[in-house]
Order: sequence, then structure tokens, then C-alpha cells
Amino acid sequence: MSGLKKGGFFPADEESAKTSEGEKWLTDFQTPVPVCNYMAEMIPFGARTILEPTAGLWNLVRAIPPEYHVTAPADFFAMPPGRFDCVLTNPPFSSRYAFGVPPELNKYGMRLGYHILQECMKMSDDVIALMPWFTISDSDVRLRALKRWGLLTVTALPRATFQYARIQTVILQLRKGFDGDTIFRVFDLRNDHKKQSLF
Ligand SMILES: C[S@@+](CC[C@H](N)C(=O)[O-])C[C@H]1O[C@@H](n2cnc3c(N)ncnc32)[C@H](O)[C@@H]1O
Repeated sequence: MSGLKKGGFFPADEESAKTSEGEKWLTDFQTPVPVCNYMAEMIPFGARTILEPTAGLWNLVRAIPPEYHVTAPADFFAMPPGRFDCVLTNPPFSSRYAFGVPPELNKYGMRLGYHILQECMKMSDDVIALMPWFTISDSDVRLRALKRWGLLTVTALPRATFQYARIQTVILQLRKGFDGDTIFRVFDLRNDHKKQSLF
């Protein structure tokens, strides 16, 4: 696929990305295409380099237009830190759904997704992340931290976004240093620009 960065931390091709995803628990919860398109439209003007830290079956990667230089590591936890113009992510929310988790991070349980988000925020000033609602609803500390870092928009996703998951999700659009009012949106498939169904 053009526009993708090939290297030691990138699966050789789409097929091998799928093969290494043979386990069902690794292939559940991929981002529906309309949601990927919506997230890709938030990439800030002027960005060139994008990190997708946990690409899974490449739904988000495929939604990124080819003019961008995309890095999608085979194992996020083995990836050397870098700098990127923007991060697009739907990380595994729990260590149950992740591989290569260093032992010291196993204790995070359902907070693993937030840990990955925080690592991404060290690598870019623009982060677009699909996260569980509880990231901001269950913890004043997390909500304050994200708002202080810079929270441009919060988009509520429909309950049915992930067929078998009961966890409700939101898209957080973060920009370091932004201190204006946060816009709240509701993702509405009827207005979906690409006219694709959710599943
Ligand atoms: C919620 S899914 C989202 C997949 C993809 N980002 C998308 O938006 O469609 C999370 C993905 O993280 C992948 N994953 C888990 N641990 C990983 C790791 N250490 N490095 C890279 N990807 C990982 C899983 O295989 C799973 O497909």
C-alpha cells in the first residue's frame, strides 16, 4: 500500500498482518469503516507523518489517504519512541486483548488503553483516539489531565459501534496546548459522508 512506512516494525504486507492476527481475540473490535473515515478526516492540516500504534486488521490505516506517511508497528511495546505529526488510534482497551504487554504493564488491566493513549501523547501533539467512555467518565484525574493537555472534541459513538461489546465508546480529538471550549458531537450514521453501513 503506498504511503506506508516500511521497516523493521511494520508488517511486511496486509496479508501477513492478517495472518499474525489469527487469534479471534485479536481480530474482534476492529473499527467500523465509517468511523475510521470520520477519524481520518480529523487529521490536522499540514500533517505528514501518522502513527497508528495498534493497527490490527488495518481498518484505520486504510482510511488514511495515501499522501500521508504511516507508521504501524508490528508490536507497539517493542517500538522505539518517535515523533509524529498525528496519531490515529483505537488501542486495545485491556491487556486481555493485547500481545507483547511487558509484565509491569499487565497490572493495568482495563487501563491499558489509557496507558497506550498516554504513550501516544508523548509522541505527537495531535492525537485522535477511540476510547471507552469510562476513560473520561470514571476518573476526574483522567478527565482533568486530558482537558488540560488540550481536548478539541468529544464524539459519542452509537451503542452498536462494536457489535459484541458492551463498552460504550467516544472519539477524543486531542491537541496539545488547546485551551478553548471542547465541542461535543454525536456520531450520526445518517450523515455519514461515505454512505457505508456500520457493519
Ligand atoms: C481495538 S482493536 C483496533 C484495531 C485497529 N486499530 C482498528 O482501529 O481497526 C486493537 C488492536 O490492537 C492490536 N494489538 C494488541 N496488542 C498489540 C501490540 N502490542 N502491538 C500492536 N498491536 C496490538 C490487536 O491485535 C487489535 O487488533
